[in-house]
Amino acid sequence: MTSTGKHVAVIGAGAAGLAATKHLLAEGFLVTVYERKANAGGVWNTAPGNGNWPSPVYEGLETNVPRTLMTFSDHPWPRNAPLFPRSEVVGEYLQSYATTMPDPENATLKLYTIVSDVRKVTHDYGKWWRVTSQRRSLNGDEEEEAELFHFVVVAIGNYEKPNVPLSYDIPGWYNAYPGSLIHARDFCKPESFRNLNVLVVGNGPSGWDISGLLAGVAKTVYVSTGRWRPNMSKGSFSKPTHKGVPAIASLNVSDRSVTFTDGKEYLETEEPIDRIILCTGYVYNLAFIKKGTRHGDVKLFEGDDKVPDVYEHIFYNDDPTLAFIGLPAKVATFTVVEAQSAVVARAFAGRIQLYTKADLDRVQRDEDCKVGTGYGGRQG
Ligand SMILES: Cc1cc2nc3c(=O)[nH]c(=O)nc-3n(C[C@H](O)[C@H](O)[C@H](O)COP(=O)(O)OP(=O)(O)OC[C@H]3O[C@@H](n4cnc5c(N)ncnc54)[C@H](O)[C@@H]3O)c2cc1C
Ligand SMILES: NC(=O)c1ccc[n+]([C@@H]2O[C@H](COP(=O)([O-])OP(=O)(O)OC[C@H]3O[C@@H](n4cnc5c(N)ncnc54)[C@H](OP(=O)(O)O)[C@@H]3O)[C@@H](O)[C@H]2O)c1
Repeated sequence: MTSTGKHVAVIGAGAAGLAATKHLLAEGFLVTVYERKANAGGVWNTAPGNGNWPSPVYEGLETNVPRTLMTFSDHPWPRNAPLFPRSEVVGEYLQSYATTMPDPENATLKLYTIVSDVRKVTHDYGKWWRVTSQRRSLNGDEEEEAELFHFVVVAIGNYEKPNVPLSYDIPGWYNAYPGSLIHARDFCKPESFRNLNVLVVGNGPSGWDISGLLAGVAKTVYVSTGRWRPNMSKGSFSKPTHKGVPAIASLNVSDRSVTFTDGKEYLETEEPIDRIILCTGYVYNLAFIKKGTRHGDVKLFEGDDKVPDVYEHIFYNDDPTLAFIGLPAKVATFTVVEAQSAVVARAFAGRIQLYTKADLDRVQRDEDCKVGTGYGGRQG
């Protein structure tokens, strides 16, 4: 493929960043991939050596969807791979996908390199995206670099910054009992919870999976969920030591107890709670994308519950030379990021028309109808 001579920065080398890189290379772009970890693979890269960036994927995790829903269309899994593979097998699949890049000489992979600032700047009478990054060397030194690009693709994943409930006294509990409260992101293995009373907050995939791993190891595992029903404890939770409880009314720091409520009745734990694991999900974290103003820097994307002003969850409305891959949650991620990457690469190459102002207004109206104009939940 003839090179377009245009430079694209891809931030993140997980499933999304790899798919984006592949499609951009196929369109003839020169691609620089920034990855803060020691290798590609994103959350599926659980190998030691990732320094400050451990994965939220814990030991022993198996996929919760069949690998057929985690397949890039041009890259089959090994025939003998389990239908629900363990995390390291998904990591190997992504490593193998990374070796299939077309024109790899047009790609530069910058490992151990974290992007800290992305903004549009004027340079040589033209407009460019300036990407500032820090590369950590093995002796711990950091080297800063700023590079200019025609386009930027943000593919940093959605599972890094914990969503921390504000309606009860988490800071008070954390300060009184340091080390007794973690988020699912930092959960590693069940053994360190042996014979303890553990409260798991939230019954999404993390809450469900982690509480299941703890049942039988811990003394008691309470799973608190706003979706609690009286019959849940009988059906969903298999062991008597694995108990469904309603939403938290209060964390009682003085005696390490917790009060739950379904809105009508209140119930309190009988024994002190030794550990709390927040399985309350994640929020978006795009604070590094900025705009310089006369009054100082502002974030291009305020709020953390949804990413506003992004056409079809991909292109930044005001400047579609900035694109996101992998923003939607609760989707078949691999399929979605592959399709998004194909669209982005063709749009950057000018092979498809993006949108008109009327399209933007229509999509915005639809979005406002669906999720409201406030911050009402993650998109997807
Ligand atoms: C515990 C857990 C289990 C999951 N299980 C499944 C499953 O079974 N099936 C499924 O389909 N999906 C699952 N997912 C969803 C998973 O996130 C997707 O499968 C997919 O890996 C997302 O890829 P991504 O590239 O968008 O993000 P990530 O995999 O998070 O990759 C983002 C990359 O960007 C890098 N990065 C971030 N910020 C910067 C920066 N500023 N500078 C440089 N690099 C940066 C990160 O280091 C990372 O390598 C799971 C997620 C979690 C957290
Ligand atoms: N492969 C696997 O087995 C596996 C394991 C873990 C995670 N994952 C993946 O990882 C990603 C993240 O999953 P996740 O479970 O961490 O996040 P999530 O899907 O966002 O779920 C978070 C849960 O937190 C609860 N919650 C949110 N705010 C709360 C609040 N203020 N107070 C109490 N509870 C609150 C809600 O559960 P309730 O309404 O039930 O309380 C919600 O379902 C998903 O893509 C998931 O599929 C996969």
